[in-house]
Amino acid sequence: MARPVLEKHKAYLDQVNQRNSYYARREFGKDMAQVAGAVSRHLNVLPEELLFTRNATEALQTLIGGFNLLKPGDTVLYADVDYDAMQAAMDSLAVRRGVKVVKIAVPQPATYDAALSTYQKALKDNPGTKLLLLTQISHRSGLLLPVKEIAAMARAAGAEVILDAAHSWGQIEVDVQQLGVDFIGFNVHKWIGAPIGVGLMYVKKGRESAIDPDMSEAPTATTLESRLHTGTTNFAAYLAVPDALAFHQQVGPAAKEARIRYLRDLWVSQVRDLKNLEILTDDDPRMHAGITSIRVKGRTDAAENAKVAAELLEKYKVFTVTRGGLAGGPCIRITPALYTTEADVAQLVKALRGVAG
Ligand SMILES: Cc1ncc(COP(=O)(O)O)c(C=O)c1O
Repeated sequence: MARPVLEKHKAYLDQVNQRNSYYARREFGKDMAQVAGAVSRHLNVLPEELLFTRNATEALQTLIGGFNLLKPGDTVLYADVDYDAMQAAMDSLAVRRGVKVVKIAVPQPATYDAALSTYQKALKDNPGTKLLLLTQISHRSGLLLPVKEIAAMARAAGAEVILDAAHSWGQIEVDVQQLGVDFIGFNVHKWIGAPIGVGLMYVKKGRESAIDPDMSEAPTATTLESRLHTGTTNFAAYLAVPDALAFHQQVGPAAKEARIRYLRDLWVSQVRDLKNLEILTDDDPRMHAGITSIRVKGRTDAAENAKVAAELLEKYKVFTVTRGGLAGGPCIRITPALYTTEADVAQLVKALRGVAG
């Protein structure tokens, strides 16, 4: 959270705490309608197409687990770049729905053409595909997928798309109408900077019936709200969402995106010459935003990656995160934030030259 959002969040916590059940029973619903309105304007959706969740995981598990247009023998498809818990949710469909689960590997770094041809080939090789999971920005490599183009391919092949936008909204601008995807899970507590505990599920109006009602709802229920029963949530966190959006708007979504892209390009351009350093996103701006991962040649297993990350932190004071799960092996993720400075980037460049020079 940015400081103004944190201050508001604390004030909401005090208010909710003081006004207690009276607030919960009589006013929270009205306030949430305002919150949904603010979010819907940012994402270019209708407020009734949004359901607040506690995080992206809850939204995506509800969408994947509840997707009921699958018949035994159908195929569902996902890739190595997708998030672990969502991969597991897709795997669970083998037992829950009797489907065949196919996992593909996206080349790295992926060019625009390579990303499209990888998904095109996967859909062609698996003609029974009825559900495709896409991750707009991969938390592993930083790959930004051309979602609109791949979703159009999927539609043409008779497959529906569930989009994991946990890491994208706020890092890049997202206009849901442009994507052509009917089911999306978002985080509001990552790049939008809302308090921890706010996620979002989007279901295009009229598509609610494709997701099963929650087990605690009537099986005949039709509303979006009936798709997820969270129980009591953190009211104060939700109330601060419009403040997070206001701050995001004050910085300017385009300026914020440009800034983190600039920081990414600043370090990447200074270490491209290192022969021992693999950079896992392509420089084509369509294929990355702020995040980009690296791998030091010859130090590619999980233990070696952990040692490189430890060296970056202990010797150079640069905090990075190791990530596994890519077909190409484990890697180290580098994520600039709004508070990252050019001096921080200079230190990162020095560190990367130190570990891979
Ligand atoms: C691509 C992606 N999907 C889903 C998630 C899950 O988000 P959360 O832990 O907030 O539910 C993450 C979290 O890092 C992510 O990076």
